[in-house]
Amino acid sequence: MALGSYLSVTLLLSVLAAAKCDIPAGALHMECHDRYFMMTVELSFTGNDPQFEAVDRTGVYPITEQYAAQCGYTVSVFPHPVHVELRASYFSCHTDNKDDEAFTFNFNLVATHDGQKETYALNKTCSPSLPWSPKEVTCEVNYMEVSVKSDVTCPSGTKDERNALKPAHSSTTSDWQVMFQIEGEQLLPRNLSEARKQGYVFDLTDGRLVFRAPYGQPDSYSTMMNGVPVEVVYATLFSRQSWVVLMVDLMAACSMDKGLYDDSGYMVWGIPESPCPSFYNTNVSIGLNSELLEQSAAEGRGYIMETHNSTIHISIPYNAEGGYRKSFVTGDLHEFYMFNLYLEQIFVDDDNVEARLRFHRTLATPLLPRPVFTENKTVVEESTFTVYLGDVPDDVELVAVQLNGHDFALPFTNTSTYTISKVVQPNNTHSYTLKVPFDDPVVIQQFSKEDAAMQHQLNINYTLTVQPENDPYYHFTSVTALTDISPPTFDTVCSESGISFRLDHRPSDYLWDISIGSDLLTPELAEQRGYIMTNDSQSLLLEVPLFTEGYEYKDFTLKGFFGTFEILVRDHETSEVQSSAAKTCPFMTTELIVCSPDGRMTVVADLSLAVPSGGIPARSNLIDKYCGPKEADSTRALFSFPVNTCGSRVMLSKEYVTYQNEIFLSKKFRAGKSKSNPSIGTDRVTMKCTYPLAGLHRLFSVYRFESDTAGVGRILRFASDGLQSPTMEPTTGLQTPVSTTRRTRRPVSIRPLPYFQIPSFLKNVLKIGAKGSSQVKKNTAS
Ligand SMILES: *[C@@H]1O[C@H](CO)[C@@H](O)[C@H](O)[C@H]1NC(C)=O
Ligand SMILES: *[C@@H]1O[C@H](CO)[C@@H](O)[C@H](O)[C@H]1NC(C)=O
Ligand SMILES: *[C@@H]1O[C@H](CO)[C@@H](O)[C@H](O)[C@H]1NC(C)=O
Ligand SMILES: *[C@@H]1O[C@H](CO)[C@@H](O)[C@H](O)[C@H]1NC(C)=O
Ligand SMILES: *[C@@H]1O[C@H](CO)[C@@H](O)[C@H](O)[C@H]1NC(C)=O
Ligand SMILES: *[C@@H]1O[C@H](CO)[C@@H](O)[C@H](O)[C@H]1NC(C)=O
Ligand SMILES: *[C@@H]1O[C@H](CO)[C@@H](O)[C@H](O)[C@H]1NC(C)=O
Ligand SMILES: *[C@@H]1O[C@H](CO)[C@@H](O)[C@H](O)[C@H]1NC(C)=O
Ligand SMILES: *[C@@H]1O[C@H](CO)[C@@H](O)[C@H](O)[C@H]1NC(C)=O
Repeated sequence: MALGSYLSVTLLLSVLAAAKCDIPAGALHMECHDRYFMMTVELSFTGNDPQFEAVDRTGVYPITEQYAAQCGYTVSVFPHPVHVELRASYFSCHTDNKDDEAFTFNFNLVATHDGQKETYALNKTCSPSLPWSPKEVTCEVNYMEVSVKSDVTCPSGTKDERNALKPAHSSTTSDWQVMFQIEGEQLLPRNLSEARKQGYVFDLTDGRLVFRAPYGQPDSYSTMMNGVPVEVVYATLFSRQSWVVLMVDLMAACSMDKGLYDDSGYMVWGIPESPCPSFYNTNVSIGLNSELLEQSAAEGRGYIMETHNSTIHISIPYNAEGGYRKSFVTGDLHEFYMFNLYLEQIFVDDDNVEARLRFHRTLATPLLPRPVFTENKTVVEESTFTVYLGDVPDDVELVAVQLNGHDFALPFTNTSTYTISKVVQPNNTHSYTLKVPFDDPVVIQQFSKEDAAMQHQLNINYTLTVQPENDPYYHFTSVTALTDISPPTFDTVCSESGISFRLDHRPSDYLWDISIGSDLLTPELAEQRGYIMTNDSQSLLLEVPLFTEGYEYKDFTLKGFFGTFEILVRDHETSEVQSSAAKTCPFMTTELIVCSPDGRMTVVADLSLAVPSGGIPARSNLIDKYCGPKEADSTRALFSFPVNTCGSRVMLSKEYVTYQNEIFLSKKFRAGKSKSNPSIGTDRVTMKCTYPLAGLHRLFSVYRFESDTAGVGRILRFASDGLQSPTMEPTTGLQTPVSTTRRTRRPVSIRPLPYFQIPSFLKNVLKIGAKGSSQVKKNTAS
């Protein structure tokens, strides 16, 4: 049983021990200085609200603001890394003092971990190496402290006289009184317990009398000394003991200068050269963070000390080593600098007795602008934006970027095409380099007409946060870059039956539209016109069969001709033509009919089919017998003539105009029409061109013909009995392909009319035409 409870107790103890976290190495420092203990502890360990308690045999005393000022403690917070500093005077209320030579300070550090308060009992013992001067004054941040050698008051002092001061400490029997002076005026004396209640501490150590007063007490006063604001506390301690009156003057005069930041980058702070006329300044040393520097070291750090008009001005560069810097967001990014200034002045009085005066002061510059900057380091050849963000202070972090309105937290995911790299500079700043490829979807791309180039734009809104508060600051920049961009180019191939165009897709394709004339190339258009289009993720292939809409022809001969097809590349935004791919290919001719938009009918007809026994095509002619072939061989003849010449017949329907002509083989030249095979004999070939009326601009002009489109042509052969040869039903070579939309028309034949008669009859004619609907071929053939 006993063993069991022992085990459970040790277990409980070890659990308790484990629950309390140890102070991490480096988070706490305890140092001995000439006249005080200094403890620093990082807030990352203590939480934001660390507390200290002074501990001695009589109890535990929380170090509150007021208690600290009365009892000789100072608590300050400094940034970067955020830490709290506790200074405890060797004469502070709860420090154990052994003969003014060894001091032990026991205290508790109360930290907060996850809402739980944790108390750490700590102690430090110091033995200052610097001997005590007969008189010492410390102007702390929150109090003034004077200590004098207790035999100073009685130069002939003996142990007895020193003991005579003892009762001052024990309030019970004391008849010691204190009398304050304000600017030479004496206030009513009061006893020491009364003074203690008012916040003053009088103490008698082994060899010294100590007096401490917080700033701003009713019994102290502010005055100007050589142009410097000074707070003075002047107490006279006295005791009437039978026939002896003991008196001790305790006086402190502390500069209350707040410091001034001058535009040249110095923080300037002033003190009187001497607090009273009988003291002669012999030495001033300064330093930061409780460390006094040799004069040369101070000069090396850029400190300047000048005396004018009995005032010492101390100038410290704003960015001096040992100072603290803190970024701060108020609209823009700012910073300020803080100094934990320490200064020691040594005096001698008329009797050559040494006195030391020490200052602890926290000085802060006003908020200074601290701009970050961006630089466009884009190299266009890399096709990537490179933007440099520099001069980012070390307590500021980049946490996110907004690229053209899209938010991206940092770090980017590893699949992102953006990268950001951080470089730490030697001057306590760091920089970030952001890279975003031009072709990333987040980049705004637009075709710049004046530059004839592609403009890429990236608006960047950086989110920076000041640590540790996490206050956000935004920095905006916009970069653009131009890249040359040429319209897409096509590979073209001629084949027997047409022309094919091939385009390899590029990321910039969306900038362009592909059109045939004024019509946008779409799968619908291709289908309608009989183009064969295949479009996959890699490339676009467009095969354009001969005689489909969009071709232009030239150089017709019996051997062949040239066909040209053109694809236009237009700006997607403006539809302006940016480039074109026109391909001309040679094609073989067997038979053909082409009705060109300028009103020319070109026909290559195989007359041997009409005249199997063999006529002489060179001798053939059109209705107008003076219109002969341009070219002919043994079987074929080539005619090319304006549609409304050579005796063409014109037929108007509601929507179309048709020109018809015929090729005659003169009987005279019809060699050897076989009697044995008379039924095959054909004596004429009819061909016609039909144009939609809506597209005609100059139908009835004598001089010109203009159509939006080519006409549809047909060659028809008629046997001598007036029937069309069954072999001649349209083949692609003989009828111009017609787009589906236009196939719905029903050609309507009307009485052939000479073109110049039309205008006045047009209305009537159209009425007639509407009634008399029947087949073109039959009517014209009859
Ligand atoms: C002082 O602290 C040390 C550990 O740092 C400890 O060993 C010692 O007991 C403490 N002394 C007192 C008097 O608390
Ligand atoms: C100190 O002075 C106060 C007020 O005058 C008085 O009440 C108190 O008794 C005095 N204490 C001693 C120890 O004389
Ligand atoms: C002034 O004081 C500093 C620090 O106490 C010391 O190093 C230096 O020697 C002194 N200079 C003079 C001239 O006394
Ligand atoms: C010194 O004091 C005089 C009179 O008070 C004043 O005119 C002068 O400007 C002061 N000099 C400096 C450097 O402050
Ligand atoms: C990205 O990170 C994930 C998880 O960290 C990992 O599984 C993946 O392989 C990484 N992808 C690349 C491209 O590095
Ligand atoms: C810090 O160093 C970087 C790199 O040398 C430089 O570009 C920048 O201007 C410096 N910033 C400051 C505030 O001195
Ligand atoms: C940058 O982003 C912040 C937060 O979204 C926004 O308040 C600010 O207006 C943005 N700045 C610009 C110039 O767009
Ligand atoms: C950024 O740099 C690129 C490349 O030098 C340059 O073409 C562009 O004009 C610059 N853009 C801006 C907005 O500074
Ligand atoms: C071809 O396909 C792409 C998508 O793969 C599309 O963006 C483009 O518009 C298509 N082109 C045509 C002419 O239809």
